[in-house]
Amino acid sequence: MRLVKTVKEVREIVNGWKKEGLSVGFVPTMGYLHEGHKSLIERSVKENDKTVVSVFVNPIQFGPNEDLASYPRDIEHDKKLVESAGADLIFNPEPSEMYGSHFTTLVNTTEVSENLCGAKRPVHFGGVCTVLTKLFNIVNPNRAYFGQKDAQQLAVVKRFVKDLNFDIEIIGCPIIREADGLAKSSRNTYLNPEERQAALILSKSLKLGLEAIKNGERDAKAVIDIITKSLETEKLARIDYVSIVDNENIQYIDRIEGEILCAIAVYIGKTRLIDNFIYKCEE
Ligand code: PAF
Repeated sequence: MRLVKTVKEVREIVNGWKKEGLSVGFVPTMGYLHEGHKSLIERSVKENDKTVVSVFVNPIQFGPNEDLASYPRDIEHDKKLVESAGADLIFNPEPSEMYGSHFTTLVNTTEVSENLCGAKRPVHFGGVCTVLTKLFNIVNPNRAYFGQKDAQQLAVVKRFVKDLNFDIEIIGCPIIREADGLAKSSRNTYLNPEERQAALILSKSLKLGLEAIKNGERDAKAVIDIITKSLETEKLARIDYVSIVDNENIQYIDRIEGEILCAIAVYIGKTRLIDNFIYKCEE
């Protein structure tokens, strides 16, 4: 497994693979990798001849008051995890390699990115799609792998790849959880022991919402109320949003039908956590 820092090196290596007719899977990440990332890498390794993992904390997807400076970084740990998952190459550029001194082009997204996290983090999805445009052009993968934990990101990426004709298959992979239900996230590291315990309220509350839907509840507001009431029982939790949308266009819905995404964002202390479930109504 190699680690490279320049666009030129990635291109040379991947071009060599492509000349041999090998398929390339790609797992874009911001590093501080955990079992969730590992599951994406392992899936890519299984489905492609070669796998590239990018580790890059993308400055332009963070708002001015967000956690860019404190975002956790540990490239030595990341190297070990990527190697143990069987990938072939890590691309770990400096911000100057990606954006230079005079970067003026941004990808703009609408509709799918306007609600949920998009409403709360106005620059976020434009920044994600801009860096992915660059990474897709640099790595030139056949397939790219994203976790369902960032369900809106997955929907935005699927739409952006379709709209801009990237010839890349986007593959969504299930949320990986701790044994007690907390969705794995690099940001879990911000939680102190008391907050870590309090954070369990996210998955517990979602479970109540899912049970209600499985028992036949079809009124989105009723399900949102169940989840909200449960979240409010935790004194360290402050709700950012509890929403139900259709899972393709990420538009708010009143009635639960088709494939829906129930998504929440909750502050535990100062840490903003997200979690969700997707449910497909069969009737
Ligand atoms: O999901 C992430 O870690 C980031 O948003 C991504 C896709 C690597 C783009 O910076």
